[in-house]
Amino acid sequence: MKPSTKPETFLLASMLLCTLLGLGYPLSCEVCIRNGAICTGVMKTCAQDEDSCISVMTETNNKGSVDVTSYKGCAKSSECDPAFLSITVAPENYMGSDTRCCQNDGCNHKPLAAFRRNLTENGLQCPSCFSVSTETCTPTQEVPCIGEETRCVTVSGLAQPGIRFAAQGCGTEAACHSKPGTLVPSGSRLLTIKKTSCRPSPQASGKAE
Ligand SMILES: *[C@@H]1O[C@H](CO)[C@@H](O)[C@H](O)[C@H]1NC(C)=O
Repeated sequence: MKPSTKPETFLLASMLLCTLLGLGYPLSCEVCIRNGAICTGVMKTCAQDEDSCISVMTETNNKGSVDVTSYKGCAKSSECDPAFLSITVAPENYMGSDTRCCQNDGCNHKPLAAFRRNLTENGLQCPSCFSVSTETCTPTQEVPCIGEETRCVTVSGLAQPGIRFAAQGCGTEAACHSKPGTLVPSGSRLLTIKKTSCRPSPQASGKAE
């Protein structure tokens, strides 16, 4: 008996089998990065180790210029945490992001809900600094912490391939747990966080009740 299966039939059967068994038949996700709260793009087939579609919305304030950026793409589920991240270096230098992941083809298509930072000062403060092209920075001033930022954070990473940045300031508990590789879109670029460390922030001197 000669195996009469045509190649197409065989391919179809294999795909079906993979789908049924959940054997890593690749996921597809929408991919885009854009200024603004909404971005749409083409669908892309994810790499084998990327099991999630990610959507990230960030709000950054760079010297008083506020940018909202949206990013969508394929991701590893380990890159999906934390959902909310907030770091303040100065009242006019902060970033906050909202990250969501899902696990079905094209599931990151729908826009994220608009996200608002809580800008109320909470009475805590941290040493702060920001620098580009270096791995560390030396605090030159103190910044008041806002909203749920109860930690003093030190962050370093890549502003774009090959360009480092370092920052210190207030951060949320979640910012302390951001894993190496966490992506934070800023403007039309992607920041990659490589390292974070944290300690509780002290009360602002003279402001404690
Ligand atoms: C904003 O942050 C302040 C200070 O931490 C807190 O008291 C307040 O409840 C927060 N507001 C919202 C809407 O979360």
